[in-house]
Amino acid sequence: MANTGLRGSDLLTIASLSADQIRSLLDLAAKVKADVGAYSKALAGKTGIMIFEKPSLRTKVTFEVGIQKLGGIAVYMDQSGAKLGERESIRDYGKNLERWVDCIIARVYSQKSLEELAEHAEKPVINALSDRFHPCQALADIFTVQERLGTLKGARLAFIGDGNNVCNSLMHAATLLGVDMTVITPKGYGPADDVVEECSRFATASGAKLTVTNDIQAIAGHHAVYTDVWVSMGQADQAGKRRKAFQAYQVNQNLMGMASRGLKAPAMFMHCLPAQRGVEVTDEVIDSPSSVVYEQAENRMHAQNALLVQVLGGQK
Ligand code: CP
Ligand code: NVA
Repeated sequence: MANTGLRGSDLLTIASLSADQIRSLLDLAAKVKADVGAYSKALAGKTGIMIFEKPSLRTKVTFEVGIQKLGGIAVYMDQSGAKLGERESIRDYGKNLERWVDCIIARVYSQKSLEELAEHAEKPVINALSDRFHPCQALADIFTVQERLGTLKGARLAFIGDGNNVCNSLMHAATLLGVDMTVITPKGYGPADDVVEECSRFATASGAKLTVTNDIQAIAGHHAVYTDVWVSMGQADQAGKRRKAFQAYQVNQNLMGMASRGLKAPAMFMHCLPAQRGVEVTDEVIDSPSSVVYEQAENRMHAQNALLVQVLGGQK
C-alpha cells in the first residue's frame, strides 16, 4: 500500500489532512467499496475500541461492521452514563487503552476530550463526532458527491441551516479540495470564526470559493444542498429558540428549485441523518429521487474502511 503518511495518525479534524491525503482516501474508498473481500485481512489482529458518549446509529454500525469486514475486532463501549474524565482522568483512560487496543474511535461532547485522549494515548484516535467536527461524515459526503457527479471539478456545494460540526468538517474538506462551498445560516448561527478563517486560507490555496452568508437567495446554482438538524445532540435546552430562528431555512421543494436554477440536472439533497422530517427538511425532498441520504449513510462505511486501512492496515 502506498505510504500516505496516515499510518498511526489521529484523525480529530479534516483540517489536519492535506488535499492529497483526502484524494487518496477517496480513491481507496472506491476500491474498498468495489471489492471489500480484497481487504478482508487488512486489519487482521487489530482491535479498535469505540467509545460513545452520545447515541448513534450510522457511526456505530458502520465502524463495527466495517472493522469486522476488514478482519479486525471492534469493541463497543457505551460511555453515555458519564462523560470522559469523570470516573478517572482522560490521561489515565488513554494510558490504559493504549495497552490493549490498536485504535480508539470516540464520539464525545467536547473536542477537547479527544485532543486530551490523543495527547496521552500512543494509539491513533479517530473522531466519531464531537461538538466541533464530524470528519468521518465529511469524507463520506465528499465521496458521495464525487460518485454522483463523476468528478469534484466544478462542483458547488451549499450547506444551509446550522453552522455546526457537520458543516465545519464539510467546509474543511471542500475548501482543501478546491470545491466551491456556500454556507447559509441565520444570523448568530454561522460556523465558528476560527473555522471560517482556516477554511478561507485553504480556499485561497486550493482555488475554492467560500461564501458564508445569511441570505437564502445565495442557494442558487449549487449541485448539492446539504442540511442537518437545527438542534444537535446536547442542545435540547435551546430547541424552542432554535426552531424559531431557523424556520425560513427549511429545505423544501421551493428551495431545491432555487438551488437547481441554471443547472443541467436537479440539485442533489444531502443530510448526514438522523433527520427531523418536516423540520429542517420536508418529506417531499428527503424522499425525492434527488436525495442521496442513504448513499451517504452507506458510504460512511466505505470511507471509514479506507481510513482504517490507511491508519492501521497491513494488507494491500
Ligand atoms: N450521521 C451520523 O453520524 O449518524 P449517527 O449519529 O447515527 O451515528
Ligand atoms: N449535528 C448533529 C449531527 C448528528 C450526526 C449532532 O451533533 O447531533
